[in-house]
Amino acid sequence: MEKPTKIAAPRGKLGVLLPGMGAVATTFMAGVELVRTKKALPVGSLTQMATIRLGKRTEGRSPKIKDFVKLARLEDMVFGGWDIFPDSSYEAAAKAGVLDANHLALVKTFLSKIKPMSAAFDQEYVKMLSGKNVKKGKTKYDIALQVKDDIARFKKKHGCSRMVMLWCGSTEVFMKQHEVHATPDSFEAAMKENHPAIAPSMLYAWAAITSGIAYGNGAPNLTVDVPALRQLAQEHKVPIAGKDFKTGQTLLKTVLAPAFKARMLGLNGWFSTNILGNRDGEVLEDPGSFKTKEESKLGALDFILQPHLYPDLYKKIFHKVRINYYPPRGDNKEGWDNIDIFGWLGYPMQIKVDFLCRDSILAAPIVLDLVLFLDLAQRAGMRGIQEWLSFYFKSPMTAPELYPEHDLFIQLMKLKNTLRWMMGEDLITHLGQEYYD
Ligand SMILES: NC(=O)c1ccc[n+]([C@@H]2O[C@H](COP(=O)([O-])OP(=O)(O)OC[C@H]3O[C@@H](n4cnc5c(N)ncnc54)[C@H](O)[C@@H]3O)[C@@H](O)[C@H]2O)c1
Repeated sequence: MEKPTKIAAPRGKLGVLLPGMGAVATTFMAGVELVRTKKALPVGSLTQMATIRLGKRTEGRSPKIKDFVKLARLEDMVFGGWDIFPDSSYEAAAKAGVLDANHLALVKTFLSKIKPMSAAFDQEYVKMLSGKNVKKGKTKYDIALQVKDDIARFKKKHGCSRMVMLWCGSTEVFMKQHEVHATPDSFEAAMKENHPAIAPSMLYAWAAITSGIAYGNGAPNLTVDVPALRQLAQEHKVPIAGKDFKTGQTLLKTVLAPAFKARMLGLNGWFSTNILGNRDGEVLEDPGSFKTKEESKLGALDFILQPHLYPDLYKKIFHKVRINYYPPRGDNKEGWDNIDIFGWLGYPMQIKVDFLCRDSILAAPIVLDLVLFLDLAQRAGMRGIQEWLSFYFKSPMTAPELYPEHDLFIQLMKLKNTLRWMMGEDLITHLGQEYYD
């Protein structure tokens, strides 16, 4: 792809559309409001807090990313979305129990005004949930058209100049690519005949892409990972990115595994288990939804360790991931990892990680960065899969012939080099010979 010559300025309002307005979505919206009213810091967000080095190390140029690239301002963001429960975002945030009473009180007026539109939903795809705020229609195509109408109405009502859609809805049952996903025509025909290979998340993605709106996938759902929607993204000049926010356990996995490989330390096994008690945890009790999450969580190690290149070190890894629903913990997940490694002459060692994390607190800044970077990509004329956003995902989307890059620090380098490339700055290779000439 050619370097963007001119990136349109982020003028006017940016509409942020969120299918699924549960714990992550409400923590994100509340956080943006608290940050823009100067009541809290956007900790965890690269777009708000990180700097980017430009030029040589001797030049001392390290602007903040948000000053270097033209990102939309938080003040210009307006929010909307869909959920199967009619609760306002204030009620949903209160039920999710992520934010404390002080923070909730500060955003009560703001969140109370954000009410979900009725959802495109089918319990076949999320077995553990049922709700009443759901669209009716004869075919999946009719429902997708209703989502398109919602988008157009929201845009008009709020006077948005641009919009981004980011899936913060539940994890759907495990699905494989089907022949109806092959082309835009076969996809549309399948929607019209209510084909089971068309999940509700795909209806939102189709509606967004054909409305010219970028789509990001925060769950491990198949959604935009199919040729028909990838092709439509190209045709409609829409960036797409996914999938499954990389927040807690997988974040640490993609930091630790590259360290073992960098030092040529072997690995016999990695057992990862979690307890969590939020609605996401309840949804993942269903084996179909868990399988989707499991596939997403399992991929990282193989791609990072490349057992085909290092059979002596990584051929016999036993990798297991468990998630258990345990209501007393709410959104505060506990993730344990037991890692069996071996060193010089094959002597075994163990590492234990116990991460007492807060799921939505880790996910919210990722939502913010993805919204802002997807909007940037669209203004820069970038379309289709945005591999430079792999940094944010457990299971990064790539072109079909490529393997995904999972190493967090390679992902970060790729992200920052993409920003340098977009702005016509030299890429940083870390060679550094010129300092010694
Ligand atoms: N929090 C994290 O750390 C994290 C990390 C990676 C991925 N995720 C994923 O992000 C998603 C959101 O997580 P959460 O904790 O906010 O879950 P949540 O259960 O609190 O919220 C999801 C919401 O989506 C709604 N929903 C489900 N299907 C829908 C549909 N078809 N249309 C509209 N709404 C729908 C549900 O009613 C629910 O309110 C989940 O898929 C989760 O797996 C979260």
